[in-house]
Amino acid sequence: MDYPLLIEERVSNKTFQEKAIPGDIIETIKAYHDNSCLRLIPDIKTELIITGSDVKEALEKAAGYNAPLVGCPSYMVLTSEDKQGAELNAGYIMEDLMLKARDLGYGSCWLTFTDSSKIKEALALKTDKKVVAVAAFGLAERARKWLHLNIITMSNIEISAKHHYFAPKKSIDELISIEKYGNKEGLDEKIGFYEDILWESFIAASKSPSYLNLQPYSFLLKGSTVYLLSEKEALTPDIDRDLNLGIAMLHFAAVAKQYIHNIEWKLTKDALDLPAGVTPVASCQI
Ligand SMILES: Cc1cc2nc3c(=O)[nH]c(=O)nc-3n(C[C@H](O)[C@H](O)[C@H](O)COP(=O)(O)O)c2cc1C
Repeated sequence: MDYPLLIEERVSNKTFQEKAIPGDIIETIKAYHDNSCLRLIPDIKTELIITGSDVKEALEKAAGYNAPLVGCPSYMVLTSEDKQGAELNAGYIMEDLMLKARDLGYGSCWLTFTDSSKIKEALALKTDKKVVAVAAFGLAERARKWLHLNIITMSNIEISAKHHYFAPKKSIDELISIEKYGNKEGLDEKIGFYEDILWESFIAASKSPSYLNLQPYSFLLKGSTVYLLSEKEALTPDIDRDLNLGIAMLHFAAVAKQYIHNIEWKLTKDALDLPAGVTPVASCQI
C-alpha cells in the first residue's frame, strides 16, 4: 500500500451509497486482518467482524456522535483479548484496516463508543473478547462539509468543542518538541537532518483522525528517540484517547516503514521532564 498517498487523501466519510459490499472485498479485508495488517502488540489476539446494514439502527444507538451516518451498508467491529494496551493496539490495527479499505476504493468513519457490552448486545455477539473499535465503511458518497455541522448541533457535545472540530489538524510545529517538552528551537534543523523520513512520518501523524479532531497528543524528539506523549483533554473519553494514540502511531510507523525500515513502537513509562497532564505513551528509535 502507498501509505503516504493513502494518508494524504484520507477523510472520515459520513455519507455512503447503500450498495452492499461485495463478498470478495469483505474476504480481502478479513484476510488482511488475519494475516498481514500492521500490529502494535502482536501478542494480543484480535478478531474482525464485518456486519451488514441490518444492525445499523441498534449499532448506531450504542456508538457514534448522536448523528447517524447516511446510507452506511457495513460496519467493521474489532474485538480483542483484554490485555494491557488493547485499545492502543486497536487504534493501530483498525486504522490500518481503514486504509486498506480505502486502497480498495471504500470509505470509512470511526465511531465512538464507551461500553463494549452495549455493542455486543446490539450485534448479538457471543465472544469472550471485548469490543475495542468500531467503524462504518462502504462506498463513499460525495458530500458537502455542512454534514459536519449537523453532528455538532445534533449532539450533546459542548459548544466549546466546535472551535476544535472545525480547526485544521495540528501543524508540525504544534505537534513536536525538541529535546525538552515545549522547546521548538532547532526543530527544522533536527528534522531536516533525517531528510524525508521524519518530515513525512510526522506529517502523516499530523493527518491522523481523532475524536472530535482534538488530537490531544504530541511528540518529543530526544536524540534519536521519538516519544509519543498523551495530553490530558477534558472532552475525550478514555477509549477514544487510546484509539487516537494508536492511530497516530500507525500513521507514523506506516510512513517511516516506506522510507527507512520497520520502526517499532514500545510502550514506555520513561521519566521525562513533562508538565502535569502530559504523559509518555510509547517510544521508538529512528
Ligand atoms: C476514536 C475516534 C472516534 C470517532 N468517533 C466518531 C463518531 O462517533 N462519529 C463521527 O462522525 N466521527 C467520528 N470520528 C471521526 C472524527 O470526528 C474525525 O476523524 C475528525 O473530525 C477529523 O476529520 P477527518 O477524519 O476527516 O480528518 C472519530 C474519530 C476517532 C479517531
